[in-house]
Amino acid sequence: MKPKLLIVDDDEEIRTQMRWGLEAEYEVFLAGDRVAALQGFKEQRPQVTLLDLGLPPALTGPEQGMAALSEMLSMDSLAKVIIISGQGEKTNSLQAVGAGAYDFLTKPIQLEELKIILKRAFHVAGLERDYRELQARVHAGTFEGLLGTSARMQQVFSSIRKVATTDAPVLVLGESGTGKEMVALAIHRRGARKDGPFVAINCSAIPETLLESELFGHEKGAFTGAHAQRKGRIESASGGTLFLDEIGEIPLQIQVKLLRFLQEQRIERVGGRQEIQVDTRVVAATNVDLKKAIIEGRFREDLYYRLAVVVVALPPLREREGDVGLLAQEFLRRNAVASGKEGLTLGTDAVRAINAYGWPGNVRELENRVKRAVIMAERKRLTAEDLELPSEAQETRTLKEARESIEREMVEKALRKHAGRIAPAAIELGISRPTLYELMEKLSITKLGRTDPGDPAL
Ligand SMILES: Nc1ncnc2c1ncn2[C@@H]1O[C@H](COP(=O)(O)OP(=O)(O)OP(=O)(O)O)[C@@H](O)[C@H]1O
Ligand SMILES: [Mg+2]
Repeated sequence: MKPKLLIVDDDEEIRTQMRWGLEAEYEVFLAGDRVAALQGFKEQRPQVTLLDLGLPPALTGPEQGMAALSEMLSMDSLAKVIIISGQGEKTNSLQAVGAGAYDFLTKPIQLEELKIILKRAFHVAGLERDYRELQARVHAGTFEGLLGTSARMQQVFSSIRKVATTDAPVLVLGESGTGKEMVALAIHRRGARKDGPFVAINCSAIPETLLESELFGHEKGAFTGAHAQRKGRIESASGGTLFLDEIGEIPLQIQVKLLRFLQEQRIERVGGRQEIQVDTRVVAATNVDLKKAIIEGRFREDLYYRLAVVVVALPPLREREGDVGLLAQEFLRRNAVASGKEGLTLGTDAVRAINAYGWPGNVRELENRVKRAVIMAERKRLTAEDLELPSEAQETRTLKEARESIEREMVEKALRKHAGRIAPAAIELGISRPTLYELMEKLSITKLGRTDPGDPAL
């Protein structure tokens, strides 16, 4: 489909000439006065309009043209209107540019010059439109700062909306860097406790000996160094939300106390004798397999069920259809603005590399790589090289390649073990001798470890 161009001029001869010169590249629409111009504009929505300021009935003044310009821009603020004016009317043209026209040309018009200006105008219009669309997508796919238009993330947003209005404990599961903390914050902000505190504690970052008093607080003199009474995080989060990050790392002895708090909303400070009533909602997160930890005796099953009343599972980035590109663009925009490199874009090879990579570090890795690349970028476009993605022979190999590599490994090992004798190697591999022969032929394996051509096992 050709891009649409509207030509507005009262002179029929000029209109016809321009159409003749431009219709190979553009779908051209013509209008001879303001009313026809606005109607054509409304119906066709041309990206670019050529507008003569002197239109009937006021052929000598710019009023009709100026009015048409402002009406067009109010219908479509991104429309590119190029003013055409007669000799000696430059003041009017400049005034029109001041009012939002994209550029101006003076009669007589050179077709070649016009073509160049039009080409650039359509290019700019296209960029602006792409950008606006992207912004609209980002906006539509944003939930409390979390970006995601994939079906998987939309599901997550919908779960957050539902659980936010309750007080039930939530367990957020997801690989490292998938946005667990952001989800916890979103749950807090969307709920009735949003004006209360949001207190986060990373259970793996605090030494075991301090964790209990961090969580529950302590009385003065409870232990060496406890010079004054101190509230714990559970108490500080009262009326709001406590985010227990890396919950899988909590020692068993503290798990018991946590369970009691969750059951009764009551705590005791370390070294304290009196029970304190709290009103704290808990959101916990982990990237370890808690079910496995339960089996291995490192995590209490009863605590697990208390915490996991509702589970929100965050998919890894590689499973969020379409989100990688969106996130990359958004991180690029933010960082480019921050480092004064506005207008920096992703090159096509960078887009391809981003989509092909597996992102083991998820959103955090993407954010960091883009941030670094923006700092390093020397051109207007980020290249795949700027992103420094590790090559991923492992990740990008096909199922067939993977299967062949493991087959080769096992066949060679079995043959080596049995000095190249087919029969015992086949038994060891659990396949028939003909199958083993076929495999060896397919993988071009010779009988390893065999020196004697007359193998007795054949
Ligand atoms: N959907 C998203 N949209 C925008 N930014 C995101 C999104 N998810 C994560 N981020 C960003 O990625 C980074 C990691 O997020 P966050 O700390 O919430 O992840 P996490 O799962 O808690 O990671 P970890 O397991 O390493 O603690 C943050 O800088 C966050 O702003
Ligand atoms: Mg985290």
